[in-house]
Amino acid sequence: MHIPVLVEKVIEFLNPKENHIYVDATLGCGGYVREIFKKCPNCKIIGIDLDEEAIQFCNIYFKNFIQNDNLIIIKDNFINLKKILKNLNIEKINGGIIFDFGLSMLQIKSGRGFSFNDESLDMRIDPSTTKLTAEYILNNFSEQQLSEIFYKFGEERYSKLIAKKIVEYRKNKKITKAKELKEIVSNIIKKKKKKIFFPSNKEILEIKFTPATKVFQALRIFINNELENIEKGIDEAIDVLDKNAKIIAISYHSLEDRIVKNKFRERKDCKVITKKPITPDILEIKTNLSARSAKMRVAEKI
Ligand SMILES: C[S@@+](CC[C@H](N)C(=O)[O-])C[C@H]1O[C@@H](n2cnc3c(N)ncnc32)[C@H](O)[C@@H]1O
Repeated sequence: MHIPVLVEKVIEFLNPKENHIYVDATLGCGGYVREIFKKCPNCKIIGIDLDEEAIQFCNIYFKNFIQNDNLIIIKDNFINLKKILKNLNIEKINGGIIFDFGLSMLQIKSGRGFSFNDESLDMRIDPSTTKLTAEYILNNFSEQQLSEIFYKFGEERYSKLIAKKIVEYRKNKKITKAKELKEIVSNIIKKKKKKIFFPSNKEILEIKFTPATKVFQALRIFINNELENIEKGIDEAIDVLDKNAKIIAISYHSLEDRIVKNKFRERKDCKVITKKPITPDILEIKTNLSARSAKMRVAEKI
């Protein structure tokens, strides 16, 4: 099961109350929805996700809340938030809206190329919206195009070298497995380590990263148009928020976080509540490694 990141902080900021409507724009396995209902079983939540597997999982998991009309689950892109709410005859969201970018455990274990295992290189969140898979890109895009994707969407400093090695490799064999891509990159870059310092208890945590992490991230962002979606989604969310309602966004890399930070600053109709992003403490990272690079920002509609 997916462990929701910074869940206590999310609930603290949302402070769920009866007669309020909340939107979880990235429903996943419903970790935040579960906690909102624990605090306030009678409030109303709209849960959105683009991934059919997430929708199927939550339709079963939250069956009772759906039957009682407390939860409405919609398979759609969060960039269509205004349209989704219009179809539901909801004008404004008076509770709050959550975005939790990145991947759910369901996706990592889906065998669709989101992990480094021996699985197909698909990486589409919603296969019905695009034919472009990671396998197609890796075997057909030019060296220059690949290098640009790795640099732009993965901030990978070895982007040119990785692209060159991919093109050399595919002359002999088509790249079809996530594990294969991981190995091509691992032959070029050594295992990466990152040290995180926690001032509160003066502890340092050393985390190992698979060298191919940024290449996988870049392909996923490119295929699913993730950065553009975040920009549009946050704008839509701020537009539909009622006065004093909050928007919470949790990012997992600097490209996502920069968009959230700039959007919150740029919009004159919302006030930033978190001057600095909130990050998980050492205990949360030790129990849930997926939380290691999470950054949460909160703003309030004015
Ligand atoms: C990190 S997971 C969310 C996990 C969730 N908070 C939980 O606790 O289970 C992110 C989810 O966002 C979904 N997603 C990504 N881009 C989306 C988009 N543009 N519109 C709707 N859902 C999207 C993914 O399919 C994935 O299920």
